[in-house]
Amino acid sequence: MISPRIHPSILNADFANLASELSRIDSADAVHVDVMDNHFVPNLTIGLPVVKSLRAATGLPMDIHLMIEDPDTWAPQYAELGCESVTFHAEAAQAPIRLARELRSQGTRSAMALKPATGIEPYLDMLGELDMLLLMTVEPGFGGQSFLDLILPKIRRARQAVDDLGGTVALQVDGGISTETIQRAAEAGADTFVAGSAVYSAEDAAAAIAQLRRLAS
Ligand code: DX5
Ligand code: ZN
Repeated sequence: MISPRIHPSILNADFANLASELSRIDSADAVHVDVMDNHFVPNLTIGLPVVKSLRAATGLPMDIHLMIEDPDTWAPQYAELGCESVTFHAEAAQAPIRLARELRSQGTRSAMALKPATGIEPYLDMLGELDMLLLMTVEPGFGGQSFLDLILPKIRRARQAVDDLGGTVALQVDGGISTETIQRAAEAGADTFVAGSAVYSAEDAAAAIAQLRRLAS
């Protein structure tokens, strides 16, 4: 199993000062960037031009989480910017296998996300096409929501499936991850943790990242 990785989400950062907000998390394993289109989710954030500028402003790997419709069209454009990992939602993709293969062919890690009420079983046979599976632990769209414990069994089933495949697919959780909840998610089998408010509302973001990593180990 992969050792725990902490990916702070800049959704809870100060959007007027993104460059300095990025420098607060330089001890993280990657920066998680939430792209929302006000159609797939009821919220609107940033798109390609801002991601391009963020790419130039940080040495951290970029973990792009697309909460948008038509990822088949848009996801490859984020890969083209040099983002290390691009996550599309299973519920939005027309052809998830083709899209995952296209992302990999562009040299990007291909990742797929499932909303809380989406079952993992229909997607198990395509796990080998992915470098990361994201299980949402809140309904996507907003930061600061409470972790859904009802996802823990799905994390366990996903862990089993990933291990059966040889354990190379990262298993990410996103939503409500904090010092209170990260251990439960880690025990269930997650290895990659998105944390928005838990990192950005902390006075010392580096200390928050270190503590989350410690608790997940
Ligand atoms: C929510 C986003 C998350 C969000 C998490 O839809 O995908 O990445 O930033 O925020 P917290 O950690 O505050 O739940
Ligand atoms: Zn996210």
